[in-house]
Amino acid sequence: MEDTIITALNWRYATKQYDPTATLTDRELSTILESGRLAPSSFGVEAWKFIVVENKELRTKLRAAAWNQSPFTDASHLVIIARRTDVRENITRELLQRTAATRGIAEETLDGYKQMVEGTIAGRSDEALDAWVAKQAYIPLGIMVETAALLNVDSTPMEGFDPKQVDEILGLPAQHLAATAVLALGHRAADDAYAAYAKVRRPKEEVIAFVR
Ligand SMILES: Cc1cc2nc3c(=O)[nH]c(=O)nc-3n(C[C@H](O)[C@H](O)[C@H](O)COP(=O)(O)O)c2cc1C
Repeated sequence: MEDTIITALNWRYATKQYDPTATLTDRELSTILESGRLAPSSFGVEAWKFIVVENKELRTKLRAAAWNQSPFTDASHLVIIARRTDVRENITRELLQRTAATRGIAEETLDGYKQMVEGTIAGRSDEALDAWVAKQAYIPLGIMVETAALLNVDSTPMEGFDPKQVDEILGLPAQHLAATAVLALGHRAADDAYAAYAKVRRPKEEVIAFVR
């Protein structure tokens, strides 16, 4: 297991050129998306939505809003990871309803939890709240990148796009959503030079510290 994980993560790289004819199976796609859905979030708010853009015209428009990055059109699938912009209004209520319904308990038994979540949200400015939600969107992004690698599926996490344009193209503001990150999924083109580049990483001693 350990070797499988590290081998997959060394095989993975931020793919620049995709083979447009190589598509993911439904099972691969659903497994990757499910691993994102199962991501942890602060208090369990899950203040995100994963939007799989299948429409070719929209993908072409999105590419133009993303410095013409080819994965936007050439990867098998393009997933927009959007964050919720209505957190203050709706997220606590949804969380409590979801938790009570799933666990078969009365919402009132979650009053202490409710106060903690409400207090956290109320104590933040709109800007700080949005930053808090945006940070969390990167957790499913990272998990989906890893799941893809374990399935031998190539991926590209991307922030190189104009968020306002992307929001507009997909009509996200009306859905109380804002594009935060994008994940392309597919299979590398045979001539993607980046596949052969040595992986550049800081040495372990620089990145990992043990306090004993
Ligand atoms: C949040 C985030 C945003 C990124 N945005 C882009 C992007 O817009 N375009 C791109 O080609 N790569 C993007 N990357 C990929 C990084 O450049 C890449 O992961 C890094 O250089 C390390 O290389 P490796 O992933 O191939 O090992 C992004 C990565 C992350 C985590």
